[in-house]
Formats: sequence, structure tokens, C-alpha cells
Amino acid sequence: MAQKGNKKGEWVRRHVNDAWVKRAVSQGYRSRAVYKLQEIDEQDKLIKSGMTIIDLGSTPGGWSQYIARKHGSACKTIAVDLIEMDNLDQVQFLHGDFQDPDILKQLDELLDGCQVDLVISDMAPNITGVRSVDEAQFEGLLDSVLYFSDLRLKVGGNLLVKLFEGSAAHYFRKEVRSRFQSGVVRKPNASRPGSREFYFLAKNKKPI
Ligand SMILES: C[S@@+](CC[C@H](N)C(=O)[O-])C[C@H]1O[C@@H](n2cnc3c(N)ncnc32)[C@H](O)[C@@H]1O
Repeated sequence: MAQKGNKKGEWVRRHVNDAWVKRAVSQGYRSRAVYKLQEIDEQDKLIKSGMTIIDLGSTPGGWSQYIARKHGSACKTIAVDLIEMDNLDQVQFLHGDFQDPDILKQLDELLDGCQVDLVISDMAPNITGVRSVDEAQFEGLLDSVLYFSDLRLKVGGNLLVKLFEGSAAHYFRKEVRSRFQSGVVRKPNASRPGSREFYFLAKNKKPI
């Protein structure tokens, strides 16, 4: 979950000196997060032409931008975030809480009956600092992702989710076992070394 308590100045200094940030700026990407998705995509061959992809927790838009640059209009990408995202060609954006039933309804309208090939979630909830509360909140968010993938992800589809070491991640990995053929942990180079963050790729959704 998002780190709390870091002094703002310290964060800014670290961000400005970060090699991934510099690379993102020089390549015109909106965030350093893009290199996490790129590394996983290159390793696992996740994104292919013609796919319908849902990008959860998309702002500022690095992941959606990566998909749009790689496949443009050959992929249908729908992005969702609590925070407004600047417009991106080839990407439809929904502004709101992914856990809000109204956003799910709007997502369904945009999907217009299409099943989804790939769900990617980089969502990180705000933390209160109380571990049990934060884990419970994160578990709720992960439940929404599982619920959505139960309903809208194709059989054979993949789900990539950002996790943080802890009970919510443990819960998620247990839930995924009955729903997907396999799962792998990924810790891309752009993921900060000491952080509790990692990614979990659930592969090949089983028929329900
Ligand atoms: C690390 S950022 C995502 C960076 C993005 N993947 C990129 O490449 O630029 C995490 C995002 O998750 C969003 N988020 C957290 N909880 C959310 C929720 N319940 N619904 C929608 N977005 C959420 C936050 O607003 C934040 O923008």
C-alpha cells in the first residue's frame, strides 16, 4: 500500500533522482510504472493485438499509454481511476471508484457485451497506518477485482494485480488458485527494491 509518513521533500528528491523517472520523461511516458508493465509483458507475452484490456488504477496513464503505443486501435482499452486522467488516444477512461457499482455499470456499457482478455490492476489504496484496517480495505479492493474477473474475464484470460506482502496478498493468492490454471510472482526491476510491492500474474482463467 502507499507509503505514509515519508517527508514530502525526501520523496521529491528521490523521485527526481530516480533513473526510471528520468527514462520515463525522456521517452515521453507519464509514469515510471510503465517499465513494470513492459518488463512483465516482455517476459509473459501478455498484450497482443485485438485484445480487450481493463486498466484499473490507471492514472497518470503509463500503463494505458504503453498499450496504446504498442497496439493503438488494435486493442480496446478501458481505464478506470479515482483521479482524473489526461486524455489518451485509443483509451476510454472512467473517472471513479472501481468499487462503486455505478462505475461497474458504466464499464459494462462500454464493454457492450465484449468479454475481457486481460485485466491489469496497479491500484494502491490510501493507507491509514493501522495495519489491520489497511489489510481489510485492500482485501475488499482485491475482492472487487476478483468479482469483476469472475463476471467479465474470458475463460483463458489473464489477470495481473499489484500486491503488497501481507494478509490481503495471501488471501488473494489463495482465491486465485481455484479460478486460474496457474499463477506467478513478478518483481520487475522498476519496482523499488525494499518495498513490499510485487505483482501477481494469474494465468488462464478456468471455466466457472
Ligand atoms: C500507482 S498508481 C497507478 C499508476 C499507473 N499504472 C500508471 O502506469 O501510470 C495507483 C492508482 O490507483 C488508483 N486507485 C486506488 N484505488 C482505486 C479505486 N478504488 N478505484 C480506482 N482507482 C483507484 C489511484 O487513484 C492511483 O491513481
